[in-house]
Parts: sequence; structure tokens; C-alpha cells
Amino acid sequence: MRATRIIPRFFGLALGLALASIMSCADPEISGGAAALGKETSGIAKGEFHRAGQPCVVCHQDQGPAADKPFVVAGSIFASPVRMVGVNNAEIRMTDSEGTKFTTKTNCVGNFMVRPTQWRPHFPILVSIAKDNIVRQMQGPIGRDGSCAHCHANAVPPDDPFSQTGHVYLYGGDEPGSPNGSVDCQANPIAAASPN
Ligand code: HEC
Ligand code: HEC
Repeated sequence: MRATRIIPRFFGLALGLALASIMSCADPEISGGAAALGKETSGIAKGEFHRAGQPCVVCHQDQGPAADKPFVVAGSIFASPVRMVGVNNAEIRMTDSEGTKFTTKTNCVGNFMVRPTQWRPHFPILVSIAKDNIVRQMQGPIGRDGSCAHCHANAVPPDDPFSQTGHVYLYGGDEPGSPNGSVDCQANPIAAASPN
């Protein structure tokens, strides 16, 4: 029946908006956890190039399927808001609540990760991303969630009521000079979930 479909959808959206207003996200379990993220893309080994655009820390944490390889912060940087073409060598500049700073860089599919052996931030953290002379700053702090894609899911409301914003991107469109990403990347710089 139509009404029974609309009502839970409305509550999902209302909850999504409530969460957005406190700059925090639902527990990963609510969105189904690691299993909901599906199988590996064929041809890409479990490693630094896999699952671009996904919430890495859902798996790379205690009790996740990659518990022995934990990350404190991880994600992917794409060139444009509408295509998932990874940006190689973009900087992710982070500052935690005690003022300690850590910068890392993306690989050629746009993925990056911070391991607890490298930096143990005290949340909340501030983040900006940069390459060449382009800098894009997230205005609000990240409260506690290490996965950028937990909030920066590819789908946006109302398709995904928990997503506050689309995937993280650096340029407004394709990267100047490399519209399809790094040409000598070992993996396809265009993420599997990409519509392009
Ligand atoms: C659905 C679960 C899942 C997601 C999501 C996921 N990974 Fe993994 N990842 C794994 C598993 C399982 C392994 C293999 C762990 C092992 O070798 O013990 C792995 C291995 C890796 C490795 C190699 C191990 C290491 O410590 O170097 C890297 C790097 C990595 N993933 C990065 C990422 C990044 C970056 C993301 C997000 C863009 C991500 N992963 C998302 C499950 C996941
Ligand atoms: C708790 C949810 C959440 C997490 C986690 C999160 N973001 Fe954001 N991000 C937002 C929201 C909401 C905005 C828009 C408002 C703002 O800029 O604060 C945003 C905006 C941004 C922007 C600016 C976009 C623009 O239009 O210029 C960048 C860049 C960004 N985020 C990068 C990241 C990176 C990199 C990570 C992971 C290290 C991350 N974000 C994690 C919620 C989140």
C-alpha cells in the first residue's frame, strides 16, 4: 500500500535532517554495516585502491572485517561532484581539538587513510583538502566519524535520507589536464559506483 511506504520514508528523512543539524551521523549499524557495502569490485585487490567512495572505517575498525588494519580517518577525494574520478596527490589537512595537525595525500584512485600508528586525533577535527592552488575547506567540525563517506555518501536526500552532502570533491568539474584521472594508475581511477 502506498501510505505504508510513504510514512517510514518521511521519518527517515526527518531523522536525516535532525542528524544533519547536529553535524553527526547515524551509527554504521543503522545503514547495515560492512555487509551492506557489498562485494569487492573484480580486478581490484583488497588494498589501497579498493572501494573508493565507501565509508572505509566501517570495516577498518575493531570488530570490522579489517579489524587488524584499523584507520582513524579515511576516505576518497574525487574531482567533480557528479563523476567519481579520483584525484591523485591531493592533500588532506587535518587539525584536532588539541591543535595537533596531520596531513596526508591521496593515491591515484583518490583514496587516503590515516592509521592510529601515524596519528591519534582527539575529535572533533577540522579538515580541508588541497591540490595545486585549489583549497576546499569543510566549515563544520567532524564530531567523531572517521569515514568521510559516512556523511559524504554518493547519493543525497531524498534517495539516501542519511546523506547530508554528496561525495567529497576538489574541483567544480573535471581535474584540469586529467579528466579521467591519473593515466599511470594501476587501478581504474574512476570508481565502480560511478555513473560515468
Ligand atoms: C566492506 C569492508 C571494507 C571497506 C568499506 C574498505 N575496506 Fe579496505 N580492506 C578490507 C579488508 C577485509 C581488507 C583486508 C584486510 C587484511 O589484509 O587483513 C582491506 C585491506 C585494505 C588495505 C590493505 C591493508 C593495509 O593495512 O594496508 C588498505 C590500504 C585498505 N583496505 C584501504 C581502504 C580504503 C582507503 C577504504 C575506503 C576508501 C577501504 N579500504 C574500505 C575491507 C574494507
Ligand atoms: C559528520 C558528517 C561529515 C563527515 C564525517 C565529513 N563531512 Fe565533510 N562535510 C559535511 C557537511 C555537512 C558539509 C557541508 C557544510 C560544511 O562545509 O561544514 C561538508 C563539507 C565538506 C567540504 C566542503 C565542500 C564544499 O562545498 O566546499 C569538504 C572539502 C569536506 N566536507 C571534506 C571532508 C573530508 C575530507 C572528510 C573526511 C576526512 C569529511 N568531509 C567528513 C559533513 C561531513
